[in-house]
Amino acid sequence: MDAQCNILVTADGVYRGDKLINLKKIASEALDRCKESSASSVQKCVVVKHPAFITSSDASSSLQTPWDELCDIWWDDLMDGVSDECEPEWMDSEDPLFILYTSGSTGKPKGVVHTVTGYMLYTSLTFKYVFDYHHDDVYWCTADIGWITGHSYITYGPLANGATSVLFEGVPVHPHVGRLWEIIEKYGVSKFYTAPTAIRLLMKYGKEPLQRYDLSSLRVLGTVGEPINPEAWLWYYDVVGQQRCPVIDTFWQTETGGHVLTPLPAATPLKPGSATCPFFGVQPAILNEHGEELEGEAEGYLVFRKPWPGIMRGVFGNQERFESTYFRKFPGFYVTGDGCRRDKDGYYWITGRIDDMLNVSGHLLSTAEVESALSEHPSVAEAAVVSRPHAVKGECLYCFITLKDQQEFNRTLMDELKRKVREKIGPIATPDFIQNAPGLPKTRSGKIMRRVLRQIARNEKELGDLSTLADPKVVEVLFSQRCEAAA
Ligand code: WT7
Repeated sequence: MDAQCNILVTADGVYRGDKLINLKKIASEALDRCKESSASSVQKCVVVKHPAFITSSDASSSLQTPWDELCDIWWDDLMDGVSDECEPEWMDSEDPLFILYTSGSTGKPKGVVHTVTGYMLYTSLTFKYVFDYHHDDVYWCTADIGWITGHSYITYGPLANGATSVLFEGVPVHPHVGRLWEIIEKYGVSKFYTAPTAIRLLMKYGKEPLQRYDLSSLRVLGTVGEPINPEAWLWYYDVVGQQRCPVIDTFWQTETGGHVLTPLPAATPLKPGSATCPFFGVQPAILNEHGEELEGEAEGYLVFRKPWPGIMRGVFGNQERFESTYFRKFPGFYVTGDGCRRDKDGYYWITGRIDDMLNVSGHLLSTAEVESALSEHPSVAEAAVVSRPHAVKGECLYCFITLKDQQEFNRTLMDELKRKVREKIGPIATPDFIQNAPGLPKTRSGKIMRRVLRQIARNEKELGDLSTLADPKVVEVLFSQRCEAAA
């Protein structure tokens, strides 16, 4: 509704590992909610029949695809008898290409607008140089095609270069933990691009699953989505790449359209854990809290001085939010929201988000977004969410819940809260820890002290200055009841 869409395209169902997901049912429920609003612009829903359900009538019948005769139409019926020639539509270079939603620290997602020429130029150029693309390469990016990595580096970048790509629908450990390595051998993949969370997951199974496959086709190993810890970097380099393949740690964002800090294979000396140096034309700077630019070795806010072709052109329908989110804090600079350190060699090290955002398995979430989902539950008076380190996901969600009077904190409630978040935001946002919080640490002006909650979640006993707290006792109670194990 925010993007004023007219047509929704979806599929009847999809498998994630061995789990059947009834995609059309989810889409229909969303459409029903849109139809309740007079502002809804959706007129048609086009449904693609997933190949798995064309051949297997068992699976197909378990889907029980809901159908609205007035709105829904099968893709195959729509395409029946249509010419296979399609004249291109000529666009202006600054026409919008797509809108992709990304979490915002206020809770409401932002519709990031990218344009036809700048975005395509930038993704095709970065694809070519960052993966050192050659025509005999077989390229594979394991990302979900619906997120920016899939847009830029499964769809636009590789296609604009005429690259041979592997498209994969599935999960890395199904039906066995060697699945990714099996696919690399089978198709002779030479350029491979994945996320630190996948590497950390596969590291757990050791070297043996890799040794069963021939990975000698590999030339370049890319990573994206979150800071890569040196241990995972070294495993990727030593075990997956057999010390032959440069590890290319690409830092970028939905907003940047393509890579902005990245090494170039065999040209940039590497340091495990650093996204190294800016791509051509990109001018990073590090600022302190007062907006002063820091020179040389320094740590502070990562900003960019000048635009590059692939930078977002706006927040759809909200120019004010575009300005206030990215340009108001430090006039003259684009603000990434990330902290960053520059070392004596001029290399950049991303230290993580410095706003109320967190990164779960390479997906950015806002704590406010999760808090508002939790607060919708009728028993909840207040919710506060912080991040906690997680061995595989990088970060996970630790939620403090204050219940309304007379409400009981129990298993059923925890399950309901988890379901609420899954439905409102998605499975990626499912809380790992939910703690009953009779009270939250607040300042006298009523602001929740998230720093203290983060320390409780991480079991850090050195709490520092608590003098601004309205009621310091709250902290003791929360500490004594903190969750040791995941919910
Ligand atoms: C945030 C952007 C870029 C596509 C996937 C995520 C974090 C991304 C790295 C990296 C350290 C990274 C940042 C950034 N991030 N890549 N190589 N090293 N952090 O896109 O959902 O827009 O998230 O992901 O925090 O701001 P996104």
